[in-house]
Amino acid sequence: MRYDLILKNGTVVTPEKCFEADIAVKNEKIALIGGLNSDDCADEIYDAYGKHILPGIIDAHVHFRDPGLTEKEDFESGSISAAFGGVTFVADMPNVLPPTSTAERFLEKIRIAKEKSYIDFGFFALLVNDNINEMEGLIKAGALGYKVFLGTSTGDIASPDMGTLFEQMTYSAAHNMRIGFHAENSEINSHFTSKFKKSGDNKQDGVLLSKARPVISEALAVQTVICLAKYTGAKVHIHHVTSKDGCLLIAEAKEKGIDITAETCPHYLLLDAKKAHKVYPPIREEGNHRKSLWDAIGVKTIDMIASDHAPHGAHEKSLPLWTAPAGLSGVETTVPLMLNEVNGGRLSINDFVRIASSAPAKIWGIYPRKGSLTAGADADFTVVDMNKKHKITSGTSHSKSKTSAYDGVETQGAPVATIVRGRFVMKDGALTGTKGCGKFVSPAL
Ligand code: DOR
Ligand code: ZN
Repeated sequence: MRYDLILKNGTVVTPEKCFEADIAVKNEKIALIGGLNSDDCADEIYDAYGKHILPGIIDAHVHFRDPGLTEKEDFESGSISAAFGGVTFVADMPNVLPPTSTAERFLEKIRIAKEKSYIDFGFFALLVNDNINEMEGLIKAGALGYKVFLGTSTGDIASPDMGTLFEQMTYSAAHNMRIGFHAENSEINSHFTSKFKKSGDNKQDGVLLSKARPVISEALAVQTVICLAKYTGAKVHIHHVTSKDGCLLIAEAKEKGIDITAETCPHYLLLDAKKAHKVYPPIREEGNHRKSLWDAIGVKTIDMIASDHAPHGAHEKSLPLWTAPAGLSGVETTVPLMLNEVNGGRLSINDFVRIASSAPAKIWGIYPRKGSLTAGADADFTVVDMNKKHKITSGTSHSKSKTSAYDGVETQGAPVATIVRGRFVMKDGALTGTKGCGKFVSPAL
């Protein structure tokens, strides 16, 4: 049999196990894993000896800023950065300009990304007070899920009022659509933020930021989401969980049978508030929060990891605390950072594959097409070298944002090839894909 591509001699990694096998690709799909015949051949053969072959890594929380904020990032630069980071699929957030809250804007965003993207992509659809009538059109257009900013963040998007949100969640439940929440409480945040602003302290200070948007802000919001989910039956997801308190509430709700999933990000797992990296919700001071997040990953209270890649210009990021924009770039650094943790024994490579590929694909309705190494699935692979040493330097990032919270950090374990539907998009540190080769993927299509 003649295949398009054969990956030979690699160690295949699934959430359950690691095993030696060859993988054959035909027509953008996985045709076969293991058991090649001696006369099987392919247009291209890649020797993955000594490397691990992971299902394509999914980053289900990025802000590629297209349309409207393309001086910070666009789908071309964002997807190139993702490809260098070993990411084969991204789910992009709707706080662009104009926000992705109507079917028409959603379709326009697909058109833009199709022209520019190097990797596959899907989108979230924004829920706001005035767009209940758009909810059906947004599903038909192919939304992965809805997004609600319960607490205001970049873009100052207001939360729907509770009555509207209740109706929106009832609708989502009836249409089996999950809603992702930015879970912060705006009243708490504004109260403390204005209090600290008045005190005149305006230096970049992560501890102060965490006091201005305290843990209770997350806890109240998560509690609200759980209560609304209980009364509406809607499937819900908590983006970027930062605290032990958030984890406890989510664990309790899962036990009670609420269909709730949760995500955290590398910065909440790896950084301390003292380092002053401005992001919403804020990175916490120690107080067991980081340990709880790691534990929560182990027991599946937190289902998945995503970068929350939120690029801003280096100049803006260096402004005083209350004027600097919130958000950290990260689509290119998640895989090396987490592989470094795998090497350090913090989690297994199988767990990494679960939280960065299969779980996000399942949560957002695109499994097993994405996130799985089985015959018939899209031939998306992240090939990694667990021995490769890498130094993160913000200046060499492929994102437009040349600033990183991890500047100078040395890691062991790095992506060496990014393969999307059987095509090498990044190979040995070179961009091999072409602009526009990425495809829109959704549960509806
Ligand atoms: O810090 C953040 N930045 N948090 C968000 O919720 C949005 C993001 C952005 O878009 O910059
Ligand atoms: Zn975000």
